[in-house]
Amino acid sequence: MHEPSKHPVLNADPFPGHPDFNGPLTLETQSYERIELAGDPPYQDSLRYGIEVADGSGETVILKVKGVELFVDPGTEYEELHGQFKDCEFNVLSRNYERDFLQANAEFYACVAGRIHQVTACCPRLDVLSIAAGQGYELDTVFARGREGKFLGLDPSEQMLRVLEGKDDRYPETAIHTRVARAHALLEEHVREDIIDTIGRPTLVTCVAGLHVIDKTGRSEGDALGKQVRPILAAVVDMMQSGGFIVVGNYYHKTDADYERFAQIWHDKQVANGVANPHQPTPPNKLFTPQQMGRMLEGLGLNVDRMSPNDDVMCSTGIRGYVMVARKL
Ligand SMILES: C[S@@+](CC[C@H](N)C(=O)[O-])C[C@H]1O[C@@H](n2cnc3c(N)ncnc32)[C@H](O)[C@@H]1O
Repeated sequence: MHEPSKHPVLNADPFPGHPDFNGPLTLETQSYERIELAGDPPYQDSLRYGIEVADGSGETVILKVKGVELFVDPGTEYEELHGQFKDCEFNVLSRNYERDFLQANAEFYACVAGRIHQVTACCPRLDVLSIAAGQGYELDTVFARGREGKFLGLDPSEQMLRVLEGKDDRYPETAIHTRVARAHALLEEHVREDIIDTIGRPTLVTCVAGLHVIDKTGRSEGDALGKQVRPILAAVVDMMQSGGFIVVGNYYHKTDADYERFAQIWHDKQVANGVANPHQPTPPNKLFTPQQMGRMLEGLGLNVDRMSPNDDVMCSTGIRGYVMVARKL
């Protein structure tokens, strides 16, 4: 246990995870010390403190900041950790998440919803694993029509998952579970087993507006696009039910000019919403184009559906989005 210089440590137990999580959040086979600061200090102080602890002990720690869990390795730079936090942190956005994210990118979400409805129309029940589940857009889309099934939403942001869990009453036919974890935890067998024990082998896997964020998490300079995501998806495909579907929706930019336009709109939107340090959107070379995504899914042995023009849209915010469906044979 570490005594902090400024704030008392609230909880230095080995990571117990979410109450609904059966095992410690681990990477490979190791558990990490989990630190959380009392008194809701400014997030910048918490990030600096996490770095201080990791550097001081020479060990990786899990730092919990405003409902977000972050791995902090010794030697982590502040800017890097800040970027990771901002990717997961929806404290500012989450209050207005629907308005700022779902409604703002309505064209993209309509395209994703259309495809999910089409692909699931003949399934009376579904067991869904939603990676980067956020506040439960996929839960709302799949189970809106009173379909039976099980849903497990995985996301490192506890705050986002709390909102998702709050939708429980709307879906009496659906058993809803959450796991506070990064998608990277899916590389571990015991995490996959825990999920299979909870919802069975998923018949539908979704990852909407998440794969580029996941690929960014833990990325090292010079890493090829997809280096993080590919093994995670391979592990997911392995755990899926044969005949099951994976639906991937993601953003991209066709040109740098498209990106610059979007970056400006996104910046202005954040400023208008009172965000003090606007978050720079992911540049085009860190986003998967539909071609790259299709190749990656095919490379994992999946049968990728041909996309129609309706599966690729320009949003009024200036970003493009696409949806892709692949099937495990
Ligand atoms: C844009 S939101 C998308 C949420 C939901 N799928 C939707 O479309 O409304 C991206 C989500 O990715 C989550 N996220 C960030 N890093 C992640 C990681 N390494 N593994 C899994 N999810 C991650 C964030 O916490 C956030 O909830």
